[in-house]
Amino acid sequence: MLKLKKKIQLIDQHDKNYLYGGKFGGNFIPETLKKPVEDLTDLFKKLRHDKKFITERDYYFKNYVGSPTPFIKLHHLTKHLGGAQIYAKVVSKANGGAHKIYNAVVHALICKRAGKKYIVGDTGAGYAGKMLSMAAKKFGLKCKIFMGAKDIKRQKPNCDAMRQNGAEIVPVYSGSQTLVDAVSECMRYWVSNCDTTHMAVGSTVGPNIFIKICAWSTAQISRELIIQLKKEFGSIPKKLKLINCVGGGSSAAGFWNEFMDYDKKQVEFIGVEAGGPKNSKLHAAPLTNGSKLGILHGAAQYVIQDKDGQIGETSSISAGLDYPGISPLHCFLKDTKRARYTSATDEEALQAYKLVSKLEDLSPSLEPSHAFAEAIKIAPKLSKDTIICVNSCGDAKKDRSIIKKRLGYFK
Ligand SMILES: Cc1ncc(COP(=O)(O)O)c(C=O)c1O
Repeated sequence: MLKLKKKIQLIDQHDKNYLYGGKFGGNFIPETLKKPVEDLTDLFKKLRHDKKFITERDYYFKNYVGSPTPFIKLHHLTKHLGGAQIYAKVVSKANGGAHKIYNAVVHALICKRAGKKYIVGDTGAGYAGKMLSMAAKKFGLKCKIFMGAKDIKRQKPNCDAMRQNGAEIVPVYSGSQTLVDAVSECMRYWVSNCDTTHMAVGSTVGPNIFIKICAWSTAQISRELIIQLKKEFGSIPKKLKLINCVGGGSSAAGFWNEFMDYDKKQVEFIGVEAGGPKNSKLHAAPLTNGSKLGILHGAAQYVIQDKDGQIGETSSISAGLDYPGISPLHCFLKDTKRARYTSATDEEALQAYKLVSKLEDLSPSLEPSHAFAEAIKIAPKLSKDTIICVNSCGDAKKDRSIIKKRLGYFK
């Protein structure tokens, strides 16, 4: 069985070929990308230990992102379900409304250090794109966002925000017209423009350096949470469950990072993938459904594929989770058994949104609604001294039209 090494950051647990557990991740990239990827790897190796860079990052996390985000008890939901005490880390209160702002700010700072004026990125739910456009505006960079044509239609509020921030949205019409195609197109663009342009990948996917930068950035969430838990309980609770939705895996990696060395009997990690429409074979849950190892966007990972190894079709009500692959970090966490992965269907996520937004002053987007669905499932069966904390990592405003159509109202 694969093993996690103690006292080594999750992002650094790879071998010399950048493979986690000897099989996940790596840099499976064309010759033309080798040099820019190497240059970025060398630059980030220096920056992540550079005191000035870290001070700058922390300054903008505090004074621009609005860190720390709140940690609150969901009293009504707890009472309604009985059993475990339910809390939320309300990351959706970060500037822009989701965790994607951490990765975007760090990429913009790196772009400036690299002396580049152009930044490009991919987006699915539109949050990664909106945040990159915000960071570009903040730091005076010109920004281009690649987005699947299907996602442009279903995530209009975030597209409006990108345009208002001066970013150009490049619609992607190939394949499924969702995130997977947007990432591919963005990488293709970067190959021909890497001399002048920095590329940000919107989640913990892609060649190793992008996984590292993204997880290093979102780790801010668990740095804050550890302090907030100690303040609330005096120490880290004896029975703690950290529940997070998983698309590419950046919010979950950031939510769990600082807890990696705790025993899983004390701090359990639960990742919730998109189970797709009820009674449909389609989903976006490679870990839950036993998908095979394959290569996607330059990295080896469990990926939804057909018998010939072609990337399979996915379906999810949530654009942010609608991705056939999954971060190599989560493949590694699954195979080491440090994290447990499950899925929630579209309908379960909608019902979770309905219950949480009815009982609490919280309006989780469809992505974290998947995590709430799991909390709702397990809380009644757990003892009162169990603490569940859900990462409420996105705000539902972007999902207004989908929720209104499916539930008949939007709170
Ligand atoms: C609010 C929100 N949560 C979760 C996700 C899933 O991505 P990740 O697994 O990288 O956090 C997205 C992706 O766009 C998102 O916008």
